[in-house]
Amino acid sequence: MSVLQVFGPRPLEIERGEGCYLMDTAGRRYLDFISGIGVNALGYGDPAIVHAIQDQAARCLHTSNLHSHRYQRELAARLAQWSGLEQVFFSNSGAEAMEAALKCARALANRRGRTRHRIVALENGFHGRTTGALAVTGQAKYREPFAPLIPDVIFVPANDVDALLDAANENTIAIIAETIQGEGGIYPLNATFLQAIRDLSSARDALWIADETQCGLGRTGERFAYQAFGLTPDVVVTAKPLGGGLPLGATIFSGEAASAFGLGMHGSTFGGGPLACRVALAFLEQAEHLLPHICQVGHYLHARLREMAAHCSLIREVRGRGLMAGIELNVSGDPFVEQAREQGLILNCTHGNVLRLLPPFVITAAEVDQACDVLARILGGRHSPDRTRSRALAGP
Ligand SMILES: Cc1ncc(COP(=O)(O)O)c(C=O)c1O
Repeated sequence: MSVLQVFGPRPLEIERGEGCYLMDTAGRRYLDFISGIGVNALGYGDPAIVHAIQDQAARCLHTSNLHSHRYQRELAARLAQWSGLEQVFFSNSGAEAMEAALKCARALANRRGRTRHRIVALENGFHGRTTGALAVTGQAKYREPFAPLIPDVIFVPANDVDALLDAANENTIAIIAETIQGEGGIYPLNATFLQAIRDLSSARDALWIADETQCGLGRTGERFAYQAFGLTPDVVVTAKPLGGGLPLGATIFSGEAASAFGLGMHGSTFGGGPLACRVALAFLEQAEHLLPHICQVGHYLHARLREMAAHCSLIREVRGRGLMAGIELNVSGDPFVEQAREQGLILNCTHGNVLRLLPPFVITAAEVDQACDVLARILGGRHSPDRTRSRALAGP
């Protein structure tokens, strides 16, 4: 064996993908309801993505940041417009995008001559595997093997305003939260808690860092999930679907937050290269047009799941928004992931007992029916799909 064994069993050997389906080397076809963990938002083989990759590969794959190119500028402008913030740093992953946000919080506090360092983050949160991102990840199982990590990080339960008020003292430089916790089991933050994060960050002169790596860029039907609440963070962390399947992360800063960085204070060899940025522009253009579809088909998915939950004693709760859904079970979810796969449906289990669904944005209502039929079969719930509803919902 030459591949480091950190991922556990990987039962499928993938040959290729097409639309919302993956094909394995044995010729079996699977409806993909996890999209490479939220990455393949346009499904597989999208013509605009394929064209951008082929054309750019023949022109120039990599420039380094010693030189500039139009796609990085255009993508930064588009992300600023999408987020309501101002300046963008490009990297290669969600964890790296979080590192830039953490460095921003430290540099801003240091520039202001302060000796404070406290970061408030959420229990159950997930922000990546680098040591900085890990330090603010609210799950001890990921952090503990690598202790000690950066100090003075306090974790509070999601949606607990009193705990947030207690933790975010005058030494606080940042409050970090996923707007909808993904890896932790699909837990949406509520409006009161998000407003408290906004108010406390402003009152403490701290940064609200919104990690939208999993819930952002259209997944909930909004460009970013925080926009459903009419609030704007100081820093937004994003990655996953941004590069259309290529590695690309972005940290988006308000003007004030961006002022933390001077020349040479941060950088990346690969981040913001012409190939990934050009593909990201092609992704965002299509994602923009898909937002109404995501809202519509997302409502349908949640209605179907709630209907199933009402008749299935194994389901404790259904959570999420848009095309981000979690089905919390009373039992371990792993056997059901296996059974779903045997019936041609790919999803995953997170947090032990939450079946996670992150289908491509181009999923149709008929494909939602197909997935829900498999779920109802394996979870044993009675279900009565109303086909007239799915027929009334057009594909993207
Ligand atoms: C909310 C969130 N932040 C950060 C990350 C880390 O992203 P990456 O694996 O690209 O480093 C993830 C990955 O699942 C995530 O869900």
